[in-house]
Amino acid sequence: MLKYDYTGMLDFISESELLKIIAKLQKENQKLHDGGFPGEEFLGWVDLPGKLKHSIPEEWKATVSQFSDKKVIVCVGIGGSYLGGKAVYDALRNPFSKEGPEILFAGHHLGQIYHENLLKYLENKDFAVVVISKSGTTTEPAIAFRMLLDLLRQKMPESELKNNIIAITDKSKGALLELSKNLELPRFVIPDDIGGRFSVFTPVGLIPLMLAGIDTDALICGAADMAEQCDTRQIADKNPAIQYAAVRQMMWKSDKHVEILTNAEPPLAYVAEWWKQLFGESEGKDGLGIFPASINLTTDLHSLGQFIQDGNPLFFETFLQVLETNQSLEIETQEDNLDTLNYLSGKSMDYVNKQAAAGTIEAHGQGSVPLSQITLQRLDAYHIGQLLYFFEKACGISAYSMGVNPFNQPGVEAYKSNMFRLLGKP
Ligand code: PA5
Repeated sequence: MLKYDYTGMLDFISESELLKIIAKLQKENQKLHDGGFPGEEFLGWVDLPGKLKHSIPEEWKATVSQFSDKKVIVCVGIGGSYLGGKAVYDALRNPFSKEGPEILFAGHHLGQIYHENLLKYLENKDFAVVVISKSGTTTEPAIAFRMLLDLLRQKMPESELKNNIIAITDKSKGALLELSKNLELPRFVIPDDIGGRFSVFTPVGLIPLMLAGIDTDALICGAADMAEQCDTRQIADKNPAIQYAAVRQMMWKSDKHVEILTNAEPPLAYVAEWWKQLFGESEGKDGLGIFPASINLTTDLHSLGQFIQDGNPLFFETFLQVLETNQSLEIETQEDNLDTLNYLSGKSMDYVNKQAAAGTIEAHGQGSVPLSQITLQRLDAYHIGQLLYFFEKACGISAYSMGVNPFNQPGVEAYKSNMFRLLGKP
């Protein structure tokens, strides 16, 4: 199982105080299971992995297999309708492999250069589109989808669009629902009781990942096992999500208002992006919340390492590592040893990476950065499922413990209404 270890925090906080908070947070965990508090209408994600374990609906699999000949799949969506799928895909795919379809993303921003280049790239390709929007009205994916639909229409008659587009949206409302009905597209529903950033184990995350050939059964199994580990039958100090939420609460009280998620495996970079949205949108309201930031090792040690080591100490760190990599890339002895690296002969690159991580943990501790660690046994679908569910549960507990509703995002509307005014939206 995923391990959460807060011993690196104990130079900075009192363990007895932490244990008291851990015990108290069972109450916040209970809220996520029982409801009765603001946001209770969005708790569908809590038991979802257990319900889906070994039982991904047959019709999902049938639709996915109808698209199995596509060489390129473009996933259109933003925020919670994009980041979960992208995070898992990046974590588990081999970027250099030609196996399976190429998965591309669109509508996750309004960048013209990117979308123009994407459309040119797709011009002569047999591609399919998965368009994802819970509201069905979000501007960024709607614009990208309109352009992709135009391109598909140039390539095929209207009756064939349904063989090239999947829509994932609300069951009863939104422009995307109407459009997908008109075009008779295969359609998946985003459940009413699950918000965007908690939707990775719904069709939002699972359909693109199934199309990409990711082992979604294992992903869900991992999440389901973590859900058991984090449910209310587990005593609080054996529940990693409660432990992590308690550490965050103590950090907040110690005026550490920025959390850095440090990741030592580059494929996990987008898990950090997903995590930022999860915690940022869930907690950052009413003038509260810990700002979620991230760094990727060892790259960012050569840019932000200096600041973390001895700049303004406004943050604490959560260090994410993978124990076994199953890779055996070794550093060979070279006779001339011109690069002076022979002292590493016979060592794997992973060994060097792990020493860099250990050295960083030691240095940041000495530099007064309170640090806890999350360890995954392996980088596979099962462990990623555990990790994502662990963060979801901790986020719900943490936000409730701060006294905010984890499941709304009133602040996101501000830019939209200004943008619509500037664009003259009727
Ligand atoms: O977490 C959220 O609710 C948001 O990030 C949404 O997922 C994002 O704004 C996209 O919304 P929609 O799926 O309605 O297009």
